[in-house]
Amino acid sequence: MLSDLQKEIIALKEDKNAIILAHNYQKKEIQEVADFLGDSLELCIKAKEIEDKDIVVFCGVDFMAETAYILNPDKKIIIPDIKAECPMAHMLTGEQVIEAKKRYPDAAVCLYVNSLGEAKAEADILCTSGNALKVVNSLEEDIILFGPDNNLGEYVKDDVDKEIIPIPGDGHCYVHKMFTEADIAIAREKYPGVEILIHPESDKSVQELADHVLSTGGMLSYIKNSDKDEFIIGTEIDIISRLELEVPDKTYYPLLKSAICKTMKLHTLEKLRDCLINEEPTITVPKDIAEKSLSAVERMLEASK
Ligand code: 13P
Ligand code: SF4
Repeated sequence: MLSDLQKEIIALKEDKNAIILAHNYQKKEIQEVADFLGDSLELCIKAKEIEDKDIVVFCGVDFMAETAYILNPDKKIIIPDIKAECPMAHMLTGEQVIEAKKRYPDAAVCLYVNSLGEAKAEADILCTSGNALKVVNSLEEDIILFGPDNNLGEYVKDDVDKEIIPIPGDGHCYVHKMFTEADIAIAREKYPGVEILIHPESDKSVQELADHVLSTGGMLSYIKNSDKDEFIIGTEIDIISRLELEVPDKTYYPLLKSAICKTMKLHTLEKLRDCLINEEPTITVPKDIAEKSLSAVERMLEASK
C-alpha cells in the first residue's frame, strides 16, 4: 500500500505533467512511485522517447540526468538532490580525454555513460554495461580508448578483437570494488548450487568466479527467464528491491549487504515531493558540451539496437 507522501507525489506528478524515471539502485519507496525503472541504457532509451511530458524527474546520479538533458534539451530535467554524483564519472576529465587522443590519434574513444559531460563531448561513442560489447564491436578502429571504468574495460577486452587502452587508467566504482573473491567463496558455501550474478564494474578476478556477468537490466531479464528460484546478487543492494517488485516469487541473496551507493540514496520521498513542487533543482549541460555529446549518445543508441 502506498503511503500518504507517495500518494501526494503521484498527484503532484500528474498535476505538473511530469514523468519520474528511476535507476534500479533507488530505494524501494522511490521505485514504487516511478513511472519507469531501468538500467542506464534503458533510462537513456526512455529519455529519448519522452514527448508528451513537460518535466522529467530523474532519480539517479548526475551523469544519468545529464544524458537525459542531452537527449531532451528543451525539457525541464529536475533531480531530487543535486549532490547525487557518481564518483567514478568524476575520475575522468575532458582534458584527460583530449590528452589521450593526442597520444593515440588513430584510436576511437568509447566512454562509459558514467562520465562527465565534458568527457562525453570528446568521445566518439558511449556505452553502458548493458551494451559495451556490441558498441565496441561496432567500431571500425582497432585501438579503443576506453574509460573511465577499468573493470568494464577488462570485461570488454576478453570478447573483442581490439586493443583496449584504459583512460585514465585507475577509474573504478567504489561500490563494486567491495566484492572480493572471498565473498564469492562464502556465498558458495552458504548457498550451495545457487547461481551468482555479478556486475561488470566488479574486479575481473571476481567476475571470473561468478556464473554470469550482467548489467542491472541484464540481471532482471535473466532472472525473469530462468527456471531457477534463487539467485545471489553481486551489485548495489537496491536492485533487489526492483527484483522483489517485479519477480516476487523468487528469492535473492545479496553477495554483500554493504554494497550501497551512497549518492544514489540521497534521493528521498520528501526531496522528490519538494522538487516537484519547486520544479528544481534543474539539471542542465552547457549548450556547446550538450551539442558535442549528442552524436556520441545517439551513436550508442544506434549501435545497441
Ligand atoms: P547499469 O547500467 O547496469 O544499471 O549500471 C549503472 C551503474 O551506475 C552501475 O553502478
Ligand atoms: Fe557510480 Fe558506482 Fe554508484 Fe554506479 S554504483 S552510480 S558507478 S558510484
